[in-house]
Amino acid sequence: MPLTDISVHAIDLDAFATHEGRLAVLVTKDAKLDPAGRRVNRLTKGAVQRVVDSDSFGKKRAGDVISLRFPAGVVAEALDIVVLDRRPTVAEARRAGANLAKLRGSADVLLATGSTRHAAEIGFGLAMRDYAFLPHKTEAEPATGAVKVMAGAPEEVKTELEPLLAIADGAHMTRDLVNEPANHLTTTEFADRLVEMGSLGLKVQVLEEPELEELGMRTLLSVGQGSASPSKVVVMEWNGAGDDSAPLALIGKGVVFDTGGISLKPAGGMEDMTMDMGGAGTVAGAMRTLALRKAKANVVGLVGLVENMPSSTATRPGDVVTSMKGDTVEIINTDAEGRLVLCDVMWYAQERFNPAGMIDLATLTGAIIIGLGHENAGVFSNDDALCNAFLKAAQTEGEGAWRMPLGKAYDDMLKSRIADMKNVGGRAAGSVTAAQFLQRFVKDGCPWIHLDIAGVASVKSETALAPKGATGWGVASLNRLVADMFESDG
Ligand code: BES
Ligand code: MN
Ligand code: ZN
Repeated sequence: MPLTDISVHAIDLDAFATHEGRLAVLVTKDAKLDPAGRRVNRLTKGAVQRVVDSDSFGKKRAGDVISLRFPAGVVAEALDIVVLDRRPTVAEARRAGANLAKLRGSADVLLATGSTRHAAEIGFGLAMRDYAFLPHKTEAEPATGAVKVMAGAPEEVKTELEPLLAIADGAHMTRDLVNEPANHLTTTEFADRLVEMGSLGLKVQVLEEPELEELGMRTLLSVGQGSASPSKVVVMEWNGAGDDSAPLALIGKGVVFDTGGISLKPAGGMEDMTMDMGGAGTVAGAMRTLALRKAKANVVGLVGLVENMPSSTATRPGDVVTSMKGDTVEIINTDAEGRLVLCDVMWYAQERFNPAGMIDLATLTGAIIIGLGHENAGVFSNDDALCNAFLKAAQTEGEGAWRMPLGKAYDDMLKSRIADMKNVGGRAAGSVTAAQFLQRFVKDGCPWIHLDIAGVASVKSETALAPKGATGWGVASLNRLVADMFESDG
């Protein structure tokens, strides 16, 4: 579905009587109405005041919404009373917006924010939460209405809202990709959707199997060789800095479906492995956001697109393959495939772009879900400055992220009798040994973060800003990290 159509206008109190759709007004926790609230209260013969005077009002939290259906005195089909102070936190403002999104269905909304701080963040919360994955529902999608925000300083709110809507747009793209079933989102379809982003000013290049073979990406190719879908690497360049400074590289695991390969997964829950391209989906969404808001930074996104299937051509447990770097890997378990895809793409990214920093994202291990659940992504890094900047960005955006350790003892668990390393380290510390595997493909001096997003990319209950399913986790944080650390302000 398209991104919510949100426009910002000057306050026009006369519009409230005749607006069709939903009216939304803000009321502070200590029951103060603004001019819009007073006007709507008058039109509805005191309905707003009665809500505010009720016992239950006192128990409401910032961002909660109380709805009245078919209020007398106005044309609107519903009146949404939003509990929000004049100086809410960003999280409270977003929460209010998300709650409005849940209520609106497909109705037009007229939202009066008055002089409330972070009015744009209400719009952002609304746009983020106003999402559903509908392409496989045969019933026609209802045409969704528009949202009109009336603000005391409309130009300021508009300016603030624009880059936020770029984030929402990017996150929705990530969700669309992550939610898409694997028979629809093949490696070819995925690459095609990335190529389409060329229209936003991104330089997009698709590397096909013969070129990957030529480059020596044997570990990546070993994952996809059992599938009828061809393996691909897609490179998306955003050169917004206005110079040729070294880019930040974002690398994504794009396993469009992970059966486990010959080390076949059990049937129960295997359908969830349609989200195993979540890292690549997040990189795509982040690149979209950066392009939409014309970020003044150089960022390159690279995704490895493969399908992990069992077949007569699939990699066997015990096979030894050589990575692009030249290191050999004994494949003990064909279900530990994500690291085999990433290590070649990471090496290629460093060889070609000599990046100022590198962040890989992957639904890499079930173990990270055991450790951190669905609240936090696992964060692994060789660089405190970059890592702390990311953790701060994630904290600001309300996206859970928790740092995990790295160390030689973990790395030693990857020793192989016959090759340079094994692709698994055993049951203990499964997420850490996966990260150690990746670190073997990070060049000395390259600041690097590995984000294990297996627990946060797609979840079975709704989150602050997303319905059940794909969350779009990471798009906002990566965008903020770029703004904080890589963007020349000029
Ligand atoms: N894609 C999975 C990890 C995963 C699990 C993502 C659950 C999302 C939800 C990954 O490729 C995998 O299979 N990892 C194995 C590694 C093991 C074989 C060392 C795992 O976590 O069991
Ligand atoms: Mn796997
Ligand atoms: Zn996987």
